[in-house]
Amino acid sequence: MMEERIAQLKADAQKALNGAVENLADLDSIRVHYLGKKGEITSLLRSMKDVAKEDRPAIGKIVNEARSQLEDLIAAKKVELQKRELEDRINNEKIDVTLPGRESITGHLHPLTLTEKRIKNIFLSMGFTVEEGPEIEQDYFNFEALNLPKDHPARDMQDSFYITDEILMRSQTSPVQARTMQSHDPNSPIRMIAPGRVYRRDDYDATHSPMFTQVEGLVIDKGITFGDLKGTLESFLQQIFNPNVKVRFRPSFFPFTEPSAEVDISCVMCHGKGCNVCKGTGWLEILGAGMVHPHVLEMSGYDPKKVSGYAFGMGVERIAMLSYGISDLRLLYDNDVRFIRQFEGLHH
Ligand code: PHE
Repeated sequence: MMEERIAQLKADAQKALNGAVENLADLDSIRVHYLGKKGEITSLLRSMKDVAKEDRPAIGKIVNEARSQLEDLIAAKKVELQKRELEDRINNEKIDVTLPGRESITGHLHPLTLTEKRIKNIFLSMGFTVEEGPEIEQDYFNFEALNLPKDHPARDMQDSFYITDEILMRSQTSPVQARTMQSHDPNSPIRMIAPGRVYRRDDYDATHSPMFTQVEGLVIDKGITFGDLKGTLESFLQQIFNPNVKVRFRPSFFPFTEPSAEVDISCVMCHGKGCNVCKGTGWLEILGAGMVHPHVLEMSGYDPKKVSGYAFGMGVERIAMLSYGISDLRLLYDNDVRFIRQFEGLHH
């Protein structure tokens, strides 16, 4: 009786394992059916109590053998199924190298940053260093050390944001002149530019912003002349705009330079014929410059009888707008990606 049941069970189980076992879940339900807590083999073992005592060892052995055979069969089937599933995955999950790639947006430099880099690179190639100074500045460096004592009328040229009586948002990058001179050995030459943000109480319109970017320049050495200033600026302006650009110096006033000049270039839009960008004049005002005032040299520890120097300052926004044909300054700050993206791929 018992032997027959066991033989039948083994035959059934084998049939089931050879039949439609598609996946590991199918296999597991077969395992549960025979070997689980309420499975066939388990209930056989439980019914051992009905077997005559003398037959128990022999029958028990057969049941145990059947169980371990079944376990082996199931384990072998499991290995087979796992192998098949892996092969299926390898076949189905092939990478189609002909599919178009997914584009990743990496970002790029802002037109203002691009312009600042172009300016820096030109001056670096002429042997200038790049210096930095704080945007929250002392009145002393922003004005006094630049020959603008308190109540000097020329302070009105730059309406500033004061934080205390002695501290303000710097209104120009010129304080970096004074800072560099004072931290420098007065017997060795200076050739530097200082790029950075400056702040003035201006309206926010198509050509003004309360925050904008300047690049200051300062050269001090024995025998520096106005001719050096002209040659350097002319070379710079021809590199940044185009080699045919004409440069003109007009007398002007800055408290920290004497003589001082306003530097114009021939209009890059109409090449001097006159258009709405140059307001019909054919010229564009682009820089302030001059020979460093002897008093400024003296205040920062330099002897004007031994050395001389020149300084200049320019607005980076203006150069960016003229270089790229941007008509409204606010586009540079609004961060509208439709505008910004147009500068993708431009290199300095
Ligand atoms: N700092 C001046 C300004 O912001 C520009 C300038 C710099 C002029 C250096 C002369 C020399 O208006």
